[in-house]
Order: sequence, then structure tokens, then C-alpha cells
Amino acid sequence: MKALILVGGFGTRLRPLTLSVPKPLVEFANKPMILHQIEALKAIGVTEVVLAINYQPEVMMNFLKDFETKLEIKITCSQETEPLGTAGPLALARDKLIDGSGEPFFVLNSDVISEYPLKQMMEFHKVHGGEASIMVTKVDEPSKYGVVVMEESTGKVEKFVEKPKIFVEDKLYAMVLPGFSGWTLDSQETISLIGEGCLIGPDVAIGPGCIVESGVRLSRCSVMRGVRIKKHACISSSIIGWHSTVGQWARVENLTILGEDVHVCDEIYSNGGVVLPHKEIKSSILKPEIVM
Ligand code: GTP
Repeated sequence: MKALILVGGFGTRLRPLTLSVPKPLVEFANKPMILHQIEALKAIGVTEVVLAINYQPEVMMNFLKDFETKLEIKITCSQETEPLGTAGPLALARDKLIDGSGEPFFVLNSDVISEYPLKQMMEFHKVHGGEASIMVTKVDEPSKYGVVVMEESTGKVEKFVEKPKIFVEDKLYAMVLPGFSGWTLDSQETISLIGEGCLIGPDVAIGPGCIVESGVRLSRCSVMRGVRIKKHACISSSIIGWHSTVGQWARVENLTILGEDVHVCDEIYSNGGVVLPHKEIKSSILKPEIVM
């Protein structure tokens, strides 16, 4: 069985992190998002993953080369000469995906994190006997998204409504993704030093090679590889990009996102600052703003 993963987007919503790495390589729970997907595909018997890429295919392919051997799965590339959106890459990779056996293939957006109930999806697909199946999820605020209107009993899709202004009845059903039951951090090579008297959690991921000095408080945050957090800093609801430093007694909160190699000086407060890579923050960011 084969799978196509769309990896060609610019990842603008995940800036400033995607100014440093392509979105599929940004870590979730200490592991690049795309690896979560490839592992899930391998687990249900996928033997070849085709990556639909439109620029710099070598970045992704070089990164994944080792994993091809480690995970024993073939990883190939279908390259666009211009961005083709969603259906375009699928048409371009047609010959790589369809081999005449009639076997279905998976198509994934590279930025979807879930528990990947792919086996259940295969079963669902076989039972209804239609052309295609999509996996969707329920959200609190459908007006921000494309909405699928489905027949309740069968899951048959009736129509798509893009970002509805009015509530689209309560007919919104899906092969509904179950909620998260939790996530196990990838701990391979995760050697970080944690000082005394730190309080860490809930929902904290600390990447490999980090130094967390004594008395630090971390909650609901993602600390990427190679970060140093100095004494008594307090970080909540934020992302600290690769190789950044947070100074002592600094307070970083409210969806602050530090790009790669950002240095927050001692005793600085960041309230929702979005900071581009390689910056030094010498004065406090008092309200959510982008620091170029
Ligand atoms: P944003 O700029 O934040 O919207 O990021 P994005 O473009 O990466 O995400 P979007 O939700 O628009 O795309 C969903 C998926 O499709 C992501 O996995 C993208 O990598 C991928 N994608 C988006 N546009 C293209 C494209 O033109 N070609 C290919 N091959 N993949 C694409």
C-alpha cells in the first residue's frame, strides 16, 4: 500500500518556526510531525510514501534518508515546478500511486497530528464501498474552517461548506477522529540537564541538548532542541525555538513564540511576543506583537 503526503506549503501560520525549517520537520512531542505520520503509515502496512514537494526537495529528502532505512519504508518524491495546492499534487503523483491493483492509497496533509486511526479508516472505507473516504474532526467553532455536511447514518458526504457564516444545522458528522488520549514524548537522544527545584508540567516537551537551570517553572510549553533556560525563569503557554536562551528571572507567557536562536535577556517579560530568529530581546514585550 502507498501513501502521498503533501509537504509543499509555505507554513506561514507557523512562522517564525518555519523560517528555520519546513513545517513537516517542526517537532511535535520531540519528533518531527512528518515522522509521526510515516511511523503510523508503516504500522498499518504502507510500503512506500511519496512526498509531494514544490521547493527545496533536498531538505526534506536528506532529512528522511536515514529514516528510510531505520523504518524500512520507501520514501520517494514527486516534485512540482510550481505550487499546485491540494488536488494538483495528487494528479501529478497519479502514476506513482496507482498501479492497477485497485488498492487504495492514503493522502495526508503533513501538518495533521492525531492518533492516526488509519486501520479503522481502511475498514470504514472498505465497508461503504465508495470512491474515497475523508477523516474529519469536530471543532467548537466551525466558522473558521471548511465544514463537511454528512448523512448521519452512513457518513456519506452531502456537501462542503467553506467557513460558514451561519450555523450549518447539527448534521456535521464524520469518521470522527477520537480526541487525544495523551502523547508519549520521543525520548531517543533526549538528554537534557534539569537543575534543582524546577517545577515542570503539565504538557511540557523538552527537546534534546537543553539546559534548564535551577528553580525554573515550565508549564504548557514546547522547548526545542539546544535551548538554555536560566535560573528562576518562568515559561508558560509558549514555544521556545531551537538554540534560544531565556535569561534568569525572565517571564515568558501567553503564546510567546521564539524563533530559532533568540536570546531573551535577564528579567525580561514577554506577553505573547512572536520573535523572529536570531534576535536579542533586551526590553519587555508588554502586549502580543511581532518582533522583527
Ligand atoms: P500556511 O501557510 O500556514 O497555510 O501553511 P501550509 O500552506 O503549509 O498549510 P495548508 O494548511 O495551506 O496546507 C495543508 C497541507 O498541504 C500542508 O501539509 C502543506 O504542506 C501542503 N500544501 C499546501 N500547499 C501545497 C502545494 O502547493 N503543494 C504541495 N505539494 N503541498 C502543499
